Amino acid sequence: MDTKTKKRLVLSVVFFCFLKTHVSLAADSITANQSLSGDQTIVSAGGIFELGFFTPGNSSKFYVGIWYTKQLVSERTIVWVANREKPVSDKFSSVLRISDGNLVLFNGSKIPVWSTNLTSSSAATALLLDTGNLVLREGSSNSTSEPLWQSFDHPAHTWLPGARIGFNTVTKQTQILTSWKSSEDPAPGLFSLELDPKGSHAYFIRWNRSRQYWSSGPWDSKSKLFSWVPEMRLNYIYNFSFVTNATESYFTYSLYDPKIISRFVLNTSGQIQQLTWLEPSRQWNLFWSQPRQRCEVYDLCGAFGTCNDVSTVSCNCLNGFEPKAKRDWDLQDYSGGCKRKTDLHCENATSASGKLDRFLELPSMSLPENEQSVEVGNIAECESFCLRNCSCTAYSYNASGCSIWEGELLNLQQLTSSVDHGITLYLRLAASEFKNSKSNNKGLIVGVAAGSAAGVAVLLGLIVFVILGQRKRSSRPRSNNRSTASSQTKNSPSSTISKRSEEHQ
Ligand SMILES: *[C@@H]1O[C@H](CO)[C@@H](O)[C@H](O)[C@H]1NC(C)=O
Ligand SMILES: *[C@@H]1O[C@H](CO)[C@@H](O)[C@H](O)[C@H]1NC(C)=O
Ligand SMILES: *[C@@H]1O[C@H](CO)[C@@H](O)[C@H](O)[C@H]1NC(C)=O
Ligand SMILES: *[C@@H]1O[C@H](CO)[C@@H](O)[C@H](O)[C@H]1NC(C)=O
Ligand SMILES: *[C@@H]1O[C@H](CO)[C@@H](O)[C@H](O)[C@H]1NC(C)=O
Ligand SMILES: *[C@@H]1O[C@H](CO)[C@@H](O)[C@H](O)[C@H]1NC(C)=O
Ligand SMILES: *[C@@H]1O[C@H](CO)[C@@H](O)[C@H](O)[C@H]1NC(C)=O
Ligand SMILES: *[C@@H]1O[C@H](CO)[C@@H](O)[C@H](O)[C@H]1NC(C)=O
Ligand SMILES: *[C@@H]1O[C@H](CO)[C@@H](O)[C@H](O)[C@H]1NC(C)=O
Ligand SMILES: *[C@@H]1O[C@H](CO)[C@@H](O)[C@H](O)[C@H]1NC(C)=O
Ligand SMILES: *[C@@H]1O[C@H](CO)[C@@H](O)[C@H](O)[C@H]1NC(C)=O
Ligand SMILES: *[C@@H]1O[C@H](CO)[C@@H](O)[C@H](O)[C@H]1NC(C)=O
Repeated sequence: MDTKTKKRLVLSVVFFCFLKTHVSLAADSITANQSLSGDQTIVSAGGIFELGFFTPGNSSKFYVGIWYTKQLVSERTIVWVANREKPVSDKFSSVLRISDGNLVLFNGSKIPVWSTNLTSSSAATALLLDTGNLVLREGSSNSTSEPLWQSFDHPAHTWLPGARIGFNTVTKQTQILTSWKSSEDPAPGLFSLELDPKGSHAYFIRWNRSRQYWSSGPWDSKSKLFSWVPEMRLNYIYNFSFVTNATESYFTYSLYDPKIISRFVLNTSGQIQQLTWLEPSRQWNLFWSQPRQRCEVYDLCGAFGTCNDVSTVSCNCLNGFEPKAKRDWDLQDYSGGCKRKTDLHCENATSASGKLDRFLELPSMSLPENEQSVEVGNIAECESFCLRNCSCTAYSYNASGCSIWEGELLNLQQLTSSVDHGITLYLRLAASEFKNSKSNNKGLIVGVAAGSAAGVAVLLGLIVFVILGQRKRSSRPRSNNRSTASSQTKNSPSSTISKRSEEHQ
């Protein structure tokens, strides 16, 4: 394994060098009286990156983006997108050109849909560099003047070597990574990776720019690593550096061996991945990723969705619920969450036919957000308290008392291992959902069946847990208390990078 991977890397390096001299050089810039349209592209001088129109996945919409040239990375890999939120419907009638000192994308009706938005700019050339940076400058393409605008300052979901992630307190510019919504929609999703704006010198991954669910821990400039990412100690591929002064703070990185093709990407499921292209196998090789478990990503499955770390599908709707946006859900964009199949009796006071709502028992669930505790004597009182209040959607009862939840249930996780105890959640559903349970047969657990079904679930969970334990001995079972997620990251040196690093040595 040791020498094999090494060989692979050497091979890809050799291939890279070969390319550098044999790719025929196409134009690497768009100048004042040129434009880009249809299948036209520009290619960086060394034949590494290409810019043009593309459609993500099966989408029929067109975006202007930057990708590695086919000769270098055979799998089309988009590293930057201009008009993330404003696709055009036809690439042949759309035009990317310099207009009034800006790079502007015009759609088929000659309406500008995306622009670099500089005021009083005299930029005349947009040049694609071998770093993957698109720069806008005055003068011709061989001008060396400071860029007036550069794509590296406006990253999408990919962090390339040489680019910065940080902020400038004077210009108020920030460089953050934001996930795509789905594999077919590069519009900004809910997840972002940024430098802690409060100045802790740590990276955060956040949900909706607010809720933090992963942190790198503060940067230790002496040992050049993040305190909660101890596996960086074994890294000899990435040369991270941190700059901070009165005006700006940022991280950047380079590769000790600049011929290695590597990138960071914040993927659609809210995890940061570090990937390296291996030419012989012609695929991206995962080097490192965080957070380790997908269910650590905050609210990955949306309202009334439930996350599962061990099944092949990350997210399911709770029983009695269905995806709000089916198509997005199928593309693994779960952010829309789930909606009730049948309205609650409570919510429609005029309905005379409806029966009282009932509660579905859900064993081994993690604690949802925003619980409220209620002072009652027993589980029956807990249930009737919840039933009385239309805004109560679920309750739970244990030795320490009664808890209720109102409105949407967020950040739910289905726990399967007997080690992660979890709680039994009682979910409010319309009575008719229980009658339908046989025809739906989605495993509604009602009344007497609850006990035995729960037993089976625990047994299944145990089996899965044992299998998983054998597979990845190093990854620990998750605690169901989310506030410990970051400290857990701190304490558990992850396996991937260290293993891989050893391989390369
Ligand atoms: C525009 O194109 C013409 C002919 O193709 C060329 O002579 C001229 O230098 C170009 N102007 C600029 C500003 O690039
Ligand atoms: C794209 O469409 C093809 C053919 O309809 C299908 O096989 C494939 O799974 C689709 N890909 C995605 C990402 O939806
Ligand atoms: C161009 O954009 C404008 C404004 O968004 C829109 O009204 C128009 O339909 C678009 N034209 C085409 C051909 O897409
Ligand atoms: C440019 O400015 C317009 C209007 O202020 C804004 O709608 C648009 O989002 C901006 N585009 C970019 C790429 O920042
Ligand atoms: C830029 O390139 C043009 C030809 O493409 C050349 O005439 C000019 O001297 C170059 N300028 C500089 C500063 O190298
Ligand atoms: C994200 O935050 C904004 C306010 O900052 C809020 O309006 C929006 O509803 C939030 N999105 C979700 C999915 O909660
Ligand atoms: C690592 O990066 C720093 C800052 O960019 C640079 O000064 C240093 O030479 C690099 N180290 C190596 C070994 O490439
Ligand atoms: C901060 O650091 C940057 C990059 O090293 C430098 O360009 C800038 O002048 C510095 N600003 C101050 C106020 O020191
Ligand atoms: C995101 O990254 C994680 C960790 O590498 C991976 O397990 C997951 O499948 C990725 N998600 C997508 C949608 O590619
Ligand atoms: C409430 O009940 C009435 C009569 O049964 C029905 O027409 C209406 O659609 C219901 N409203 C909701 C929100 O379910
Ligand atoms: C139901 O919940 C709402 C929102 O918390 C609260 O204002 C109301 O007093 C509750 N009703 C009862 C009967 O407890
Ligand atoms: C009881 O449940 C609450 C939340 O519903 C939880 O915080 C608490 O730890 C549980 N206590 C016991 C003893 O399981």
